[in-house]
Amino acid sequence: MTFVVGEQCIMCKHTDCVEVCPVDCFYEGPNFLVIHPDECIDCALCEPECPVDAIYSEDELPEDQQVFLELNAELAEVWPNITEMKPPLPDAEEWANKPDKLRLLER
Ligand code: SF4
Ligand code: F3S
Repeated sequence: MTFVVGEQCIMCKHTDCVEVCPVDCFYEGPNFLVIHPDECIDCALCEPECPVDAIYSEDELPEDQQVFLELNAELAEVWPNITEMKPPLPDAEEWANKPDKLRLLER
């Protein structure tokens, strides 16, 4: 089992989540973060930290977010590790809760 970063993170990237992860298993792309599924210990600490509710337990991942299970696994292999909080993306407030952000994902 792992936790998964979903679509709400795209264009926001608040990074509150990385501060609490005891095993530093977040990886950072240009406008999205992912969790490495083989490193996550399922502690659930990150889930309540995200201001836009982008983090799900794998077994509670909504149907429309299923694609993010594979995306987290794939991108965690290529993106660099992030262990400290940084300012969110400049237009994070504007993008919060907007639908259909997957098309904006930068790799
Ligand atoms: Fe890290 Fe725990 Fe979140 Fe997994 S559930 S990403 S180990 S904080
Ligand atoms: Fe993204 Fe939320 Fe973390 S917006 S970077 S999952 S705090």
